[in-house]
Amino acid sequence: MSEYIQTRYRSHTCGQLRKSDVGADIALAGWVHSYRDHGGLVFIDLRDRDGLTQLVFDGDLCGAEALETARKLRGEWVISVTAKVVARADSLVNTKLATGEIEVRVTKLEVLSESPTPPFAPDDRELVNEERRMKYRYIDLRRPEMQNTIRTRYKVTKLMRDHLGDMGFWEIETPFLTRSTPEGARDFLVPARLAPGSFYALPQSPQLFKQLLMVGGCDKYMQIVRCFRDEDPRADRQAEFTQLDLEMSFIDQKDIIGVVESLIKRIWKEIIGYDIGASIPHMSYDQAMNDYGSDRPDLRFGMKLVDITDLAHATDFGVFKNAEQVKCIIVDGGAKLTRKETDGLADWAKGYGAKGLAVTKVAGGKFDTGIAKFVAPIEAKLLERTGAKDGDLLCFAADKSKIVHKVLGELRLKMAKDMQITPSTEFSFLWVVDFPMFDWDEEEKRFVAIHHPFTTCQDQDVAKLDSTDHATIAGMKSKAYDIVCNGYEIGGGSIRIHRMDMQQKVFQLLGIGPEQQAGKFGFLLEALSFGAPPHGGLAIGVDRLVMMLRNITNIRDVIAFPKSQSGMDVMCGAPAPVDERQLRDTHVKIVMPSKPI
Ligand code: AMO
Ligand code: AMP
Repeated sequence: MSEYIQTRYRSHTCGQLRKSDVGADIALAGWVHSYRDHGGLVFIDLRDRDGLTQLVFDGDLCGAEALETARKLRGEWVISVTAKVVARADSLVNTKLATGEIEVRVTKLEVLSESPTPPFAPDDRELVNEERRMKYRYIDLRRPEMQNTIRTRYKVTKLMRDHLGDMGFWEIETPFLTRSTPEGARDFLVPARLAPGSFYALPQSPQLFKQLLMVGGCDKYMQIVRCFRDEDPRADRQAEFTQLDLEMSFIDQKDIIGVVESLIKRIWKEIIGYDIGASIPHMSYDQAMNDYGSDRPDLRFGMKLVDITDLAHATDFGVFKNAEQVKCIIVDGGAKLTRKETDGLADWAKGYGAKGLAVTKVAGGKFDTGIAKFVAPIEAKLLERTGAKDGDLLCFAADKSKIVHKVLGELRLKMAKDMQITPSTEFSFLWVVDFPMFDWDEEEKRFVAIHHPFTTCQDQDVAKLDSTDHATIAGMKSKAYDIVCNGYEIGGGSIRIHRMDMQQKVFQLLGIGPEQQAGKFGFLLEALSFGAPPHGGLAIGVDRLVMMLRNITNIRDVIAFPKSQSGMDVMCGAPAPVDERQLRDTHVKIVMPSKPI
């Protein structure tokens, strides 16, 4: 059955007609995709979001006037035709086209819109510069590739609503004009005309509202919602992005994980026919960091980090001897990298905060080149511990544990890419659990929440909330969890604090004193005092999930109207200055920066 409603412009879509329709009188409408003029006959491929159909203009059938008009048609003109479906001769069947067994012989032509030559053809073969695609996004969206992504995205959000709706979740809207919610990014601010000098903040997520919905007895909430974070756009990050946000009452971590896992499995099965299989494995945050140097490890390949601190301390190599931690990765076949390439790695590592990166190769069962002479005394033990073999490259980082993990975690990904290591499977899902509660911010000299300040700690650590000992606090674990796919964090959530006294203690540990608590979070603390159920939830990044499903690496390609790398909407020219009157109305005065941003 057609997805389309029949209208005066068309009876079918351009991807719909088959051999069984031969003989039918039909009407089609769409864009001129390509045209060929063979004198007496004009052939047009007509395109809509469903596909292509070949139109044939034959003067004998459509009349001389329509044939003349057909000759003037150009790419991206919009037309509608009435026509008769005919079978193509066997030799002319186009097996690449769903409608390739037929063509339609036009009886009447109506030109609905003309177009100058477009800045680029909406053709998959012609991938133009991204800035141009953004400027003319409405033409870019005509590309089948983009249409498939937009269609997939719609199917995904529909499935999310259906699946969770059937489980008793209510979709509830939460405000966009609100107060700042701390999710770790900068807020987008909106000046309030009616409250001079005050600002709304656009939500970084509906976190506090969904918790208040639980206090309000709504029990199961979901929302497909836009979130706003004023951070620099990246390949997997936009300032304005979409979450599937959910929250449930009277649950534990395993219940949230169960709901989300059932949804993810169904999406992968129904959208791309992929069976995720039994349950998604869990890995503790500590193990993820120790073995992969990342809290979102890509498990489609090995190259685990190997701890050699004890061996390194036994050498006379200054870099190793005095380091808090020394770890290495073994790059299979990496010995083929040139001196220039391995030297380049040290500079690359400095970009991640390392002081350098030491390397050596294995040849003839011995270390060769690089820091070979420094590690000669521990050669046998190092070869045994790492399992390194001839042809391998060993890369070492020596530093504070945090930097070692950061550098080697990133290097592992870089090496997998550079060495074109084939992933063992198409998708690798993982739940990362047992996150620490807090991270120490060296610059600000205070603890910050790893997930967010509303996340509860694990039961065995509750008493530690009263501690003043740095190591005790740093060692506390939270009930936070992330779902990871192929090295991307596609979702994260936690069980929340539902008791006012505990929330106050956590604020205090985060350096938010009673006055600030009352000012910023008084409404939350008050709500928690009025009978809050135990609750928790999670949010999935819808954009990232669609990237995974469609095997797309650039987040802008899964959003109909994305922002450019510099955060601009190049099509409509946003952000843009506003006029004096708007500034006056909103009580805003502009002070331009003295230096460029
Ligand atoms: P979090 O900040 O981890 O959690 O966000 C949840 C998920 O949203 C996606 N995401 C983004 N996607 C694109 N661009 C961005 N700038 C961006 N930032 C985040 C990621 C991430 O996993 N309120 C909590 C959730 C909760 O605790 O229930 C939250 O927002 O895929
Ligand atoms: P240096 O003694 O500083 O000349 O460094 C010797 C080698 O060790 C060089 O290849 C450096 O890139 C590397 N190196 C320096 N600092 C570190 C570090 N913290 N971790 C790993 N390698 C390092």
